Amino acid sequence: MTATDTKLTEVTTNSMATHRPILHRAVRLSGLFVLITALTSCATGRIDPTDPIGENAKQIDGLMRLSGYLAAAVGVFVAIAVAVVIVKFRARPDDDPNDLPEQIHGNKKAELTWTIIPVILLVFLTVITIPAVFDLSGKGDGRTIKVEGQQWWWQFSYDIDEDGTPDIVTANDLVIPVGEEINLEILSNDVIHSFWIPQLNGKKDAVPGRVHHWRISSPVPGIFYGECTEFCGLSHANMQMRAVALEQDDYDAWVEEQMKASSVPTAASAKRGYDLFGQHCVSCHVVNGVYEAAANGNANLTSGYAPNLTHLMTRTSFAGSVFELYNDDGSVNIADLREWVRNAPDRKPARSDNRQGMVSFAEVLNETDLDDIVTYLSTLGGPPPLMPS
Ligand code: CUA
Repeated sequence: MTATDTKLTEVTTNSMATHRPILHRAVRLSGLFVLITALTSCATGRIDPTDPIGENAKQIDGLMRLSGYLAAAVGVFVAIAVAVVIVKFRARPDDDPNDLPEQIHGNKKAELTWTIIPVILLVFLTVITIPAVFDLSGKGDGRTIKVEGQQWWWQFSYDIDEDGTPDIVTANDLVIPVGEEINLEILSNDVIHSFWIPQLNGKKDAVPGRVHHWRISSPVPGIFYGECTEFCGLSHANMQMRAVALEQDDYDAWVEEQMKASSVPTAASAKRGYDLFGQHCVSCHVVNGVYEAAANGNANLTSGYAPNLTHLMTRTSFAGSVFELYNDDGSVNIADLREWVRNAPDRKPARSDNRQGMVSFAEVLNETDLDDIVTYLSTLGGPPPLMPS
């Protein structure tokens, strides 16, 4: 081996040694990127902002697409221009490195072009966006449903006879009639949350001490999924909700059923569950007609910031829409319901010591108690008019 050969080998080895870690890092980083993308798409599988159904969601989608296409056109133009410049003005072997190309600093034509075109694009986007922002925040003429966010579930109140007091108080499933624009009055009972059902409208914050107006509508029956989109503590990710749009007849039947009060069950197991419910659950939960005022002193219908359970089984989900109330074959999801009553904080992170989420009954209720309570809960109305498909 000659001296030159040795030098060449050294150079090759050195350059490989420096390139390999960079390559490995690039591979690892792109792997991480793919993993994060895959994980985030798993988490929001049923929440689809790319498939608007309601009028307001379509308006937002139209603006998003227009801005996206404009940005893509600008991006493609810049990429092509950069490629052309790189190829056309590259240094050639016989170029004199000191011979600079003609300098265009201060070229008025170029400066004006790349200032005026973006200004026109931005003014255009502003002009079409601002009216939409005001339009989306306005109050409509339709019926009003009160939406209250709290750690970590959503409550919906309906004032059917419009006398200023709620007639129906429900949770997790926001039931609306098809083809009607519904006004939402969005509030919070603790910290800032954000209400978002992307197929029906954009996001609207729920802020303590304020009422925010928002409108949703669906032209077709169906279940539309949403979640809280403002970080609000331990179970922020488990604060989901769904809108259930029903044909007018089904909606009327739903209202009629919700207005009925509950009664004391007669079957042995359900009756025993009912009694246990009276001992352990009524300090937070209300059941109209039987356990009307929660023991903490709150009035009928609402409760100590725990869901009103009067017509529990007419809903499709529970615990902030984290669990399904029914199995795919239409039977009641006894397994999840039972585990939830047994040890809620184990199924959904909570700070029940601080009245944030349901407490654990693992040390309080035995297996028979749990069976009986779940049997009682299963008698609370149902099934829902529309099941998730
Ligand atoms: Cu409520 Cu995040």
